[in-house]
Amino acid sequence: MHARRAAVSSVLLLLFAAISVLTLLPRAPSPPPRPFLRSRADGGRCDYSDGAWVRDAAADAPTVYGEDCPFLDPGFQCARNGRGDSSFRHWRWQPRGCDLPRFDAREMLERSRNGRIVFAGDSIGRNQWESMLCMLASAVPSGAGRIYERSGKPISRHKGYLSMVFADYNLSVEYYRAPMLVMIDRFPSSSRASGAGKVKGAVRLDVLPRHADRWAGADVLVLNTGHWWNEHKTIKAGNYFMVGKRLNVTTDIKEAFRLSLQTVRRWELSARLPESYLFFRSYSPSHYRYSI
Ligand SMILES: *[C@@H]1O[C@H](CO)[C@@H](O)[C@H](O)[C@H]1NC(C)=O
Ligand SMILES: *[C@@H]1O[C@H](CO)[C@@H](O)[C@H](O)[C@H]1NC(C)=O
Repeated sequence: MHARRAAVSSVLLLLFAAISVLTLLPRAPSPPPRPFLRSRADGGRCDYSDGAWVRDAAADAPTVYGEDCPFLDPGFQCARNGRGDSSFRHWRWQPRGCDLPRFDAREMLERSRNGRIVFAGDSIGRNQWESMLCMLASAVPSGAGRIYERSGKPISRHKGYLSMVFADYNLSVEYYRAPMLVMIDRFPSSSRASGAGKVKGAVRLDVLPRHADRWAGADVLVLNTGHWWNEHKTIKAGNYFMVGKRLNVTTDIKEAFRLSLQTVRRWELSARLPESYLFFRSYSPSHYRYSI
C-alpha cells in the first residue's frame, strides 16, 4: 500500500518534472526561420524602401553603440573629430505602409546564424559595414576570439576585403572595397605607349573586381556605388572607361555608370542564390566636409 502510493507519487512527480522541463527549457538556440529580415507583422510584404526619415528622440544611436566601438575607423568617429551636435542620431526610418521593428542585435544575430552578410562598395558602404559590426557587437559579450577577422587582417586595412566572424553564431559580416562596383584596373602599359599618355587606369565597365566571386552566396548583399561616378575620380584622375579591350576617352559618365550597372545586374542574375536579399544604394549624403 505504502509502496504503491509511493510509486504513484513518483510517477506524478516524474510527469510533473517532465512537464516543467518541457515548459522551462529555453528555446533551442538553433535554426531561426529563414529568410532574415522578414517583418513579423506583415509577412514581408511591406516595401521598406518607400518611406521617410522622421525625427524621433527615442531613436538614439548612442544606446546602440558608442565611438569606442573597436571597428570604427578613426575618420568615422564624428564626436572625436569635433562634431559638436548629436541631433543626427535622432532619426528613424519610417516606411509608409508598416513599422520597422526596432533593431535588436541579439535577434538579428540569431536570425543570421550560419550566414553571410556582405557589403561591397565605396567608403559609405564601409561606413555602413562598420556600423553593422558595432550594432551587432553590442549583443556579444566581450572576450577574446568571439569576433575576429577571418585571416587576421587588421581592421585598419583599406584594400581588398575584410571578413569579420561572429564566432558564437558562425556569421560573417564582410566588406569588399569596390568603389565603382566594376573593376578599376591599371591600364596596360603597351597601350600607354601608343599615345594614351595621361591614361593611368581603366574603369572596366564590363568586368567586376577580382574579389567579386566572393560576393556570390551571401545571404544579404548590400551593394553601393554612386559618389565615384564623377569627373574628379575618373577622367581628371586619369581613369578612363573601357569596354572589352577598347578604351573610350569620350564616354559620358552617366552612360558609363549605366553600363556598369548592367554588368552588375547581369552578374547578379547569373551568380546569386535566389533566396538571398540584395540591396543597392546609390547617392546618399556624403561623409566628407566640402566634398564633391
Ligand atoms: C557556417 O556557415 C557556413 C556558411 O557561411 C556554412 O557553410 C557552414 O556549414 C557553417 N558551419 C557550421 C558548423 O554550421
Ligand atoms: C565612346 O563613348 C561615346 C559616348 O558614350 C560613344 O558615342 C562612342 O561611340 C564611344 N566610342 C567608342 C570607340 O566606343
